[in-house]
Amino acid sequence: MPVFFSEADRFSAAPMVDVTTSAFRRACRLYTRKAMLYTEMIAADAITHGRLSLLEFDPAEQPLTLQLGGCVPEALAAAAKEGEKAGFAAINLNAGCPSDKVQSGAFGAVMMKDPEHLASCVKAMQDAVSIPVSVKTRIGVDDLDSPEFTRTLIGAIYSTGCRHVIIHARKCWLKGLSPKENRSVPPLDYARVYGLKQDFPDLYITINGGIASIEQCLECLKHVDGVMLGRALIDNPYLMARVDSEIFNDGSAVKTRGQILAEAQDLAARFEAEGHRFRHLGQHFLNLFASVPGSKRYRRYLSLHLSEPGGAQILKEAYAQLCGGEL
Ligand SMILES: Cc1cc2nc3c(=O)[nH]c(=O)nc-3n(C[C@H](O)[C@H](O)[C@H](O)COP(=O)(O)O)c2cc1C
Repeated sequence: MPVFFSEADRFSAAPMVDVTTSAFRRACRLYTRKAMLYTEMIAADAITHGRLSLLEFDPAEQPLTLQLGGCVPEALAAAAKEGEKAGFAAINLNAGCPSDKVQSGAFGAVMMKDPEHLASCVKAMQDAVSIPVSVKTRIGVDDLDSPEFTRTLIGAIYSTGCRHVIIHARKCWLKGLSPKENRSVPPLDYARVYGLKQDFPDLYITINGGIASIEQCLECLKHVDGVMLGRALIDNPYLMARVDSEIFNDGSAVKTRGQILAEAQDLAARFEAEGHRFRHLGQHFLNLFASVPGSKRYRRYLSLHLSEPGGAQILKEAYAQLCGGEL
């Protein structure tokens, strides 16, 4: 029996280029053991051209999904196979990113314009691996934004046998808006995504776009199967501390920010001992105390010292700026 998704997909951290690096994902694991994490988008061609180091990760990051970008079925299939060999829990195809770079490669959001071709890519990936394959897309692109279009698009993906889609609940404009604007200007339409659950009851639907709290996640989960959060995890990573107990109901206690910071010190020491620079990890703790009184002093201290070695001590001293005391 093929596997289409995993329990971890109930809450996932969105793929974000230059953000969801291995260091970010290791930081995420201090908050949640259960959530699904994603890589940044990796071009299938880079993998087929031998850049297999792009597929390296720390086992502690699991469960981890590899997101691929590409539009040639054979290359996507070959890259998916390498991803399976590298030990990823699942493979995801990016069919929703509108950046110029991605458009010039004719992949990402532009793939929505040709649902049949998109389906042939998904099919090739599915045939190549036995781990789950999902697609991340949007509700529409340019003038193709009617409810019928969204159904046709999702129907094409469904017809391949794929049973997990992640839908950013807004369309994008390929011309005229920057990728950043395409994440805020077109209006969110959660109802459109919820409606798809009626059309495709056995499709695992993850909703994405503008979700910023655990309460909002729980509301969305009344209508669909999974939630995916992106920018909220950058601005307020501490919200992930409630994920295991409140989204996965695993009975675990919610860690305090102080506990997270203490664990971050241990992680920083390991990270640097492995030969990495502290800043790649430390930057993901800049917003740990977002909205806590005194957080500006913590943040200022940490950002000032990010480029220095000795991250464990730097984190400890940054914390002392916040609360005037020792950890
Ligand atoms: C800095 C940044 C980089 C992103 N890179 C990717 C990417 O590599 N692949 C992708 O599918 N989406 C990418 N996205 C889009 C997010 O995955 C997500 O769909 C979008 O931010 C909406 O979710 P949010 O409102 O929870 O942030 C990126 C978003 C940001 C902010």
